[in-house]
Amino acid sequence: MQTVTVNASKQYDVLIGSGVRALLPEKISSLFGSVRVCLVSDDNVARLHLDEAETLLQNAGFNCSRFVFPHGEASKNPTVLFELLEHLADERFSRKDVLVALGGGVTGDLGGLAAALYMRGMHLVQIPTSLLAMVDSSVGGKTAVDLKAGKNLAGVFNQPDLVLCDPDYLSTLPPEDFSDGMAEVVKYGVIADEALFDTVKDGCIKDRLTQIITRCVTIKRDVVDEDEFDTGRRALLNFGHTLAHAIEAKSNFTVSHGKAVAIGMCRIAALAEQHGLCDAPCLKQIQNALTNNDLPTDTAFLNAELFDEVTKDKKCTGGSITLILPRRIGDCYARATPIDECKRMLS
Ligand SMILES: NC(=O)c1ccc[n+]([C@@H]2O[C@H](COP(=O)([O-])OP(=O)(O)OC[C@H]3O[C@@H](n4cnc5c(N)ncnc54)[C@H](O)[C@@H]3O)[C@@H](O)[C@H]2O)c1
Repeated sequence: MQTVTVNASKQYDVLIGSGVRALLPEKISSLFGSVRVCLVSDDNVARLHLDEAETLLQNAGFNCSRFVFPHGEASKNPTVLFELLEHLADERFSRKDVLVALGGGVTGDLGGLAAALYMRGMHLVQIPTSLLAMVDSSVGGKTAVDLKAGKNLAGVFNQPDLVLCDPDYLSTLPPEDFSDGMAEVVKYGVIADEALFDTVKDGCIKDRLTQIITRCVTIKRDVVDEDEFDTGRRALLNFGHTLAHAIEAKSNFTVSHGKAVAIGMCRIAALAEQHGLCDAPCLKQIQNALTNNDLPTDTAFLNAELFDEVTKDKKCTGGSITLILPRRIGDCYARATPIDECKRMLS
């Protein structure tokens, strides 16, 4: 088992390794004592994994309740959020109790926000079950739901108290969703670690999952420790994401987050090359790595079409957009780009 400790406004451990999910009862007990547990999952994850988690907790004497919602990004909205808050209230949870978000990034974002809001904050344990949630969304404390105007527009920073990252969950993850997570893994390689990029660039990484997840979580931890509230270095984690959010929205969320990130990374690397903004061309390497991990590298949406969506993005502030650009594989930088210049580049 690997342990990565996050030292943000709250200190917490991310435990990574086969079988760590079995530690849930003892960890809850040692962190919070005798509390009640609300398990939150989408219907897919509930069908496959919720009974096991609930039984583990019940056998250890915990009183549990479950909240299950329909899977998919469409559920990451204020209506489902308030249904979850009403559930917590109906079940008379207190702020000393624990919400366990067992699922992918949608469950983690929704559950994390509910835990922050309910009675101004209850305990939160993240148990990511998708690769994307393991390497990215379960760590770092960003929580949100989507609004009609765009993704993740209503949210707060809420660090969990514990993250249990068990790669065994990935055996039931559909290949499509596994690839989505690989987009974020490739991203970490491009922004911070050429060796990680080399490890994953040919695909077929299932025998090295704990090692790869640990490396990604460590990179994210280092960034979050330095810039928890996203005022500086954390922006690097958004490599490919500004265009990705626009692609997701334009496609009415039929293009998944991971696939949109893959396309967004290629588009932005292409722009960097075209405009002489990178030291070493890396578009081809990124495209190959994505293709080898069953990810798309382009979309029919034109850059100009995505521009309107881009300007709605939270990362567009004060007349400029922070573009994250690759210098070379393993090294990216943030460039505040005036909207007019951005529009010219994208058109
Ligand atoms: N908070 C953050 O820092 C952060 C970072 C990146 C992405 N996100 C958010 O994460 C979301 C995407 O995450 P995601 O790709 O995990 O989406 P998701 O939660 O919708 O999961 C993808 C699909 O996989 C299924 N699934 C998950 N685990 C499974 C398992 N073990 N077995 C079988 N099926 C399983 C889910 O039911 C769903 O259908 C987006 O909303 C994105 O905005 C948040």
